[in-house]
Amino acid sequence: MLYTDHYAYCFEHLYTRPWAAKHQVNLSTLERLLHCRSGVWLDTFCGQGWHFANTGSHMQKVGIDRSSAQLAIAQKNNPNCFFIKADLGKSLLKNSCADLITNFWGSYCYLADVESVINFFSSACTAVKSDGALYWELLQIEDLQTFNSSRFAEEAGARVQEISGFHWTYTDAGGRHEMISPSLDFFLEVASIYFAKVNHWHDQHFMTHLVCEHRY
Ligand SMILES: C[S@@+](CC[C@H](N)C(=O)[O-])C[C@H]1O[C@@H](n2cnc3c(N)ncnc32)[C@H](O)[C@@H]1O
Repeated sequence: MLYTDHYAYCFEHLYTRPWAAKHQVNLSTLERLLHCRSGVWLDTFCGQGWHFANTGSHMQKVGIDRSSAQLAIAQKNNPNCFFIKADLGKSLLKNSCADLITNFWGSYCYLADVESVINFFSSACTAVKSDGALYWELLQIEDLQTFNSSRFAEEAGARVQEISGFHWTYTDAGGRHEMISPSLDFFLEVASIYFAKVNHWHDQHFMTHLVCEHRY
């Protein structure tokens, strides 16, 4: 388990505070998606619940993560939100359980293989209620070298070490992270089955933002 108490303590300093530009894209996109939306917002691989803590909304906010250390901080930061401890590589989401489902920082990349990522993404699509929305922040293989040469990566002491097909690894204060990034086309193909409106754009840093609206 990489996300121990010690690493969770470091996480905010390494990955939340320094990259204001990335987080600002998340917040402005969320502001639009949250506007006039009610019901349940489910944030998968929610970490410390930063996105909940930094958005105002009447939605019921529910976060899922497998790290007790991350969830303890999330609950402290968001006393009115509900958090569930679960390994999303093993348990899929229930059909039609949320009005908005999110996944930030390319966190889905922690899943074991392409099949697990696509299964999880498909279950997230089916978990969105009719007319609901989904926001996925993708980290693509082609952006990893840019990440490596960035000031941000240098400050975080993070380094992508190996890239092989869709698999890659990086190291930082937490140790070695085994990751997988299937291409954008996989996500677009699945999303187009479930949503009337599918939009994506690159933020000119490292992330691709996929926003799907109007679930059939
Ligand atoms: C890079 S952090 C991102 C946290 C948060 N989404 C954010 O943007 O700040 C990745 C998170 O994914 C969680 N995680 C990794 N594998 C997981 C799994 N199989 N099931 C649930 N959570 C997982 C980790 O515990 C960690 O909190």
